[in-house]
Amino acid sequence: MPLTIHRITAPCIDMTPALFQPLQLRQLLLANRVVVSPMCQYSADRGSATDWHVMHLGSMTQSAAGLVLIEATAVAEEARITSACLGLWNDANEAALKRVLNAVRPHANTALGIQLAHAGRKASSAAPWHRGMLIAPEHGGWVGMAPSALPHRPEEAAPRVMTQADIDAVVAQFAAATVRAERLGLDAIELHCAHGYLLHEFLSPVSNHRTDAYGGSPENRMRLPLAVFDAVRRAWPAHKPLGVRVSCSDCLEHTGRDSWTLPQTLRLAAELKARGCDWIDASSGGISGEQKITLGPAYQAHFAQAVREATGLPSVAVGLITEPRMAEEIVASGRADLVAIGRGMLWNPRWVWHAAAELGGEIAPPPQYGRAAPREHAKLFAKVPFGMR
Ligand SMILES: Cc1cc2nc3c(=O)[nH]c(=O)nc-3n(C[C@H](O)[C@H](O)[C@H](O)COP(=O)(O)O)c2cc1C
Repeated sequence: MPLTIHRITAPCIDMTPALFQPLQLRQLLLANRVVVSPMCQYSADRGSATDWHVMHLGSMTQSAAGLVLIEATAVAEEARITSACLGLWNDANEAALKRVLNAVRPHANTALGIQLAHAGRKASSAAPWHRGMLIAPEHGGWVGMAPSALPHRPEEAAPRVMTQADIDAVVAQFAAATVRAERLGLDAIELHCAHGYLLHEFLSPVSNHRTDAYGGSPENRMRLPLAVFDAVRRAWPAHKPLGVRVSCSDCLEHTGRDSWTLPQTLRLAAELKARGCDWIDASSGGISGEQKITLGPAYQAHFAQAVREATGLPSVAVGLITEPRMAEEIVASGRADLVAIGRGMLWNPRWVWHAAAELGGEIAPPPQYGRAAPREHAKLFAKVPFGMR
């Protein structure tokens, strides 16, 4: 009998931590699973980015995160939360952001996306460091608009009820901002459908009491967010990813009131998936001061897990994910595909570098900083050209 020789090959064991595995979203390849969460800077001039954005985004794009999401960016002047919020509704806004991107992008080691947003009834607020209250028109503010004439706080003035023309205009404004984002060469878009801003206001029965095609049943309440998603998807190149940040729950179950809940989020996520959504960024709350959220490590990760399990969509876990091992566990155990880090990244813009050192990942720091790693972490900077080490 002829001798059969079986070639035995050692199984290839990939020792790369889950947090430092790449992720493909359409044609965008993220180097790792860390996202810099979108964070308003309240530092724009009539919607236009300033030198602060060069510094802030310069710092964040040196973080070696897989993706940096630029802060909630208003699709119209009246869509800003504060008068100092970033916007992308006119040529001046686009030119200002282009100047910032031209400065930071040649040195960036991250992909760069933008969060498009409409503040709805939370528009015309003061910056958080000025206590965040609504500013009335007689004090330099403007009247926000919303699905219904219901203020966010009982002591606040009611927003203007949106007409069909307003609804159509909002859809067009999101699409127009998308065209500008594409001209700016951004890699990804996230739609802000969370935290009690306009699109969330349509989803939630707390803020949406309409009796037309945009209110009542969950299907009707989802109509505008889905129309915006479709318009943005059409205006955004097919090879570029588009995700959505959702408040997975209004966190009002304890009140017994009708509210937006996780099962409705799962329905929305399935609808979004069918329309070409690339991720769900799973946040919560923001629609009512009565919300009850128990803060703690990774307190919203169970939402990301539920979305991922129910729909198969990539999900982003966010909220008090502060430790590298916590982030690694979330991704390795399959609770989420990505982790977004907000305050932790402001506290320590080198969070990803230190996570790579702790977990055994590899990053590509700028060559100018190639000698920064302590001797015991020399391997960390494997991607820096040898001469620079
Ligand atoms: C200064 C600041 C600005 C924020 N701005 C936004 C924003 O523009 N869009 C958004 O969806 N969330 C925003 N958030 C929420 C964060 O993206 C994040 O979801 C939240 O802070 C929880 O994550 P963390 O515990 O890692 O900070 C902001 C948070 C902070 C601290």
